[in-house]
Amino acid sequence: MKVLCIVGTRPDTIKMAPVIKKIEKDKRFEVKVLASAQHREMLDIALRDFEITPAYDLNVMRRLQSLEKLSARLLEGVGKIMSREKPDIVILQGDTTTTFISSLVAFYYRIPVAHLEAGLRTNNKYAPFPEEINRRLVTHIADIHFAPTEKAKNNLLKEGVEEEKIFVTGNTVIDALEMALKIPCQLPISPGGRYIILTIHRRENWGEPIERVAKAVSRLLEKFPDLELVFPVHKNPLIRKSIKPLLKGERVHLLEPLSFIPFVHLMQGARLILTDSGGIQEEASYLGKPLLILREVTERPEVLKAGCGILVGTDEVKILRESEKLLLNQEEYLKMARRVKIFGDGKAAERVYQALLYFIGWRKEIVEEFKPEC
Ligand code: UD1
Ligand code: UDP
Repeated sequence: MKVLCIVGTRPDTIKMAPVIKKIEKDKRFEVKVLASAQHREMLDIALRDFEITPAYDLNVMRRLQSLEKLSARLLEGVGKIMSREKPDIVILQGDTTTTFISSLVAFYYRIPVAHLEAGLRTNNKYAPFPEEINRRLVTHIADIHFAPTEKAKNNLLKEGVEEEKIFVTGNTVIDALEMALKIPCQLPISPGGRYIILTIHRRENWGEPIERVAKAVSRLLEKFPDLELVFPVHKNPLIRKSIKPLLKGERVHLLEPLSFIPFVHLMQGARLILTDSGGIQEEASYLGKPLLILREVTERPEVLKAGCGILVGTDEVKILRESEKLLLNQEEYLKMARRVKIFGDGKAAERVYQALLYFIGWRKEIVEEFKPEC
């Protein structure tokens, strides 16, 4: 059985890695990885972290290329490999443009698509942009859907996906996180006092919203003289241009994107995490770190329901107010700082593997679903 796993960016590689590692062990599968390289440096870091060597690398990244140029390059590049390889199944993760275009190409070649992290929805076409529509389009093409949570499964059912094609597996990012936590590592910096982590990159936050966030964080640092900021900055030049003039000083650590293992260890030591990232929303609640989500909506409402995260958007006053509250009020802090297994329990890749066997017909028993622990 020829399996083609397609990745392109940092997060889809981190989340696909546990599945690649799992399936590779079964010698009935011939697993190949196609890297679109929609990201370059950030993809390479993730590939190195998990010791993944792609069979193909399309190298499609260009500086700040438009979505349509990226899509055109992907269509042609993925098409060439699909016609050469003719895999029996294609595995895709999440909602990136690499994932959406690869699903379309697989459809053109009538190759079945397995979709990891299926069913996440905000029901807002433009948030996150373009990911909300990317993931909806992949759902229409996919033949087997690995929903991380019950909520994601229900979203798929509402859209008419047949129940027997959906498997609730948990999110594979928690498998990756557990792997990383087991590996001791030297931190790239050692902040003197307590520190917060910031990451921001979403398209809907480019420009003024990012500047508002940077201003809020800068004011927060003024108010708390013992507080430090750790900010691994996305490679996107637009983001770098926005934040650099606003975040300065010896308590500000602007870093290059980090390897996954040190980043996870840094998150573990942080007081608070501010982010618009998808993956970090999942990781923070597992690590018991209070989370301020720099978005208007989230496709991961489980984190709000569990009380581990708050939507603060990019409003300067709100970010400052909520951060201050958590830094000053221990009771409020402890209410949010709970380690919960709402997105996964570290066994998602195993469930994905078993569900694939079931889908192919190599296993008869139905796969047991992931159940959250709050
Ligand atoms: C993409 C994904 C988004 C995901 C994010 C993870 C889409 C539409 N978006 O974001 O879902 O959350 O990745 O980070 O698929 N760049 C580099 N080096 C890198 C990476 C990026 O220089 O390693 C620069 C390039 O100029 C590139 C730009 O950043 O053009 C934006 O990269 P892109 O892949 O388009 O990022 P997003 O769409 O913002
Ligand atoms: N991450 C990392 N190094 C960093 C910052 C983040 O390895 O310097 C990891 C993080 O732990 C998470 C993933 O990258 O697993 C999130 O990627 P990103 O925020 O770029 O994308 P999203 O999850 O929003 O799609």
